[in-house]
Amino acid sequence: MKLVDNKATLTFSNGSPSVDLPVYGGSIGPDVIDIRKLYAQTGMFTYDPGFLSTASCQSAITYIDGDKGELLYRGYPIEQLATHCDYLDVCYLLLNGELPDDKQRGDFHKLVTNHTMVNEQMQFFLRGFRRDAHPMAVLTGLVGGLSAFYHDSTDINNPQHREIAAIRLIAKMPTLVSMAYKYGIGQPYMYPRNELSYAGNFLRMMFGVPCEDYKVNPVLERALDRIFILHADHEQNASTSTVRLCGSSGTNPFAAIAAGVACLWGPAHGGANEACLNMLEDIQRNGGVAKVGEFMEKVKDKNSGVKLMGFGHRVYKNYDPRAKLMQETCNEVLEELGLGNDPLFKLAKELEKIALEDDYFVQRKLYPNVDFYSGIVQRAIGIPVNLFTGIFALARTVGWIAQLNEMISDPEYKIGRPRQLFTGSPRRDVPGAKK
Ligand code: CMC
Repeated sequence: MKLVDNKATLTFSNGSPSVDLPVYGGSIGPDVIDIRKLYAQTGMFTYDPGFLSTASCQSAITYIDGDKGELLYRGYPIEQLATHCDYLDVCYLLLNGELPDDKQRGDFHKLVTNHTMVNEQMQFFLRGFRRDAHPMAVLTGLVGGLSAFYHDSTDINNPQHREIAAIRLIAKMPTLVSMAYKYGIGQPYMYPRNELSYAGNFLRMMFGVPCEDYKVNPVLERALDRIFILHADHEQNASTSTVRLCGSSGTNPFAAIAAGVACLWGPAHGGANEACLNMLEDIQRNGGVAKVGEFMEKVKDKNSGVKLMGFGHRVYKNYDPRAKLMQETCNEVLEELGLGNDPLFKLAKELEKIALEDDYFVQRKLYPNVDFYSGIVQRAIGIPVNLFTGIFALARTVGWIAQLNEMISDPEYKIGRPRQLFTGSPRRDVPGAKK
């Protein structure tokens, strides 16, 4: 962050003295006005619910240009990473700032592989849940539960401890997500197989059974790996900001990541893939493509409360680049599985076509986001709808931990503590209380 040759001057119409505010520039993207001393200088706060114009931190990890529809991890375009790297390369990149060379790649893969098993006690913890519990409820509990296993060795001020916590989380998430799935359907847990790739191992833990060999389908393995890459990080979104805020108190990193899982669950964020698929199934049940027009009328009616799930984004005001890659993967997976005529895929394409031409969507710059097609891919792979957000959480764990570690190693970091505009009652007395 560097001072730029510019300053902002804030003036008040009531004659209070104006204040000069420094302006900082990053490497790309909008400059920021530094308001850290504003309260001390004026006795006023800024008001920005939903952080529409507030940079809450400086970060060198992920950059989004919402107008261009561009997403960069450590400077590399998502399209190049998705076609030339695997998920563990991307994890290495997000954590360390550079893509690994051959030796670093081998060492990193081995390190993650050596941590894929979870403490055997975890399965007894899991048994406390109802079998029909939502997997995100189970995952919030399991990830929080990891803090009980790794509390004593986790000194967040020690870079080696932070690194090992990152590796443990990345390695154990697939094991935990698949355990949550197997528990729900009453099948035995599958232990990880370390000779398989990260995505291949996850597929086997999900769909394999101990009484048979499981052969990983390379098309599905690649598709899952791409889903992981596309969801790995997304700068200061709601769950990442939650992890940063939670971690800013110095809490155990596993507990901070559990807070991220809880935030991701919501339908406006990671829960959108589940909500999107439920929406498509609903339209299909009620008449399919023929009813798309009727459904769109409801979406545009502000009183209906209906939204086109998988559309719109706080930052992208153009096509989400992840949605394009996901659509490509969707084609590949459906073709591989002989589902080229999948009615939900046809329905999704029809909805997209109408929305992209409709004034309501055009004026508001609403485009498909990553979740518009990810549900169709996951459903085709055999992942149950209520586990979609769990897959997102698995993939996003690396982003959360990279951002948390970046914050803790930043000498300027402070506990997060927003202020407020108070609109409640001023001081008053309980009837009968002494004044
Ligand atoms: N369907 C219909 N109208 C919409 C939609 C939608 N999906 N998204 C936004 N709008 C309208 C909204 O009603 C508002 O209209 P108006 O100006 O007339 O009041 C306008 O577009 C601007 O929307 P906003 O709510 O101010 O935008 P936001 O930045 O606060 O919300 C969002 C972003 C993602 C929460 C929202 O677009 C949404 O709820 N989309 C559906 C859920 C979804 O797909 N979420 C996944 C996001 S991508 C995955 C991730 O990164 O988490």
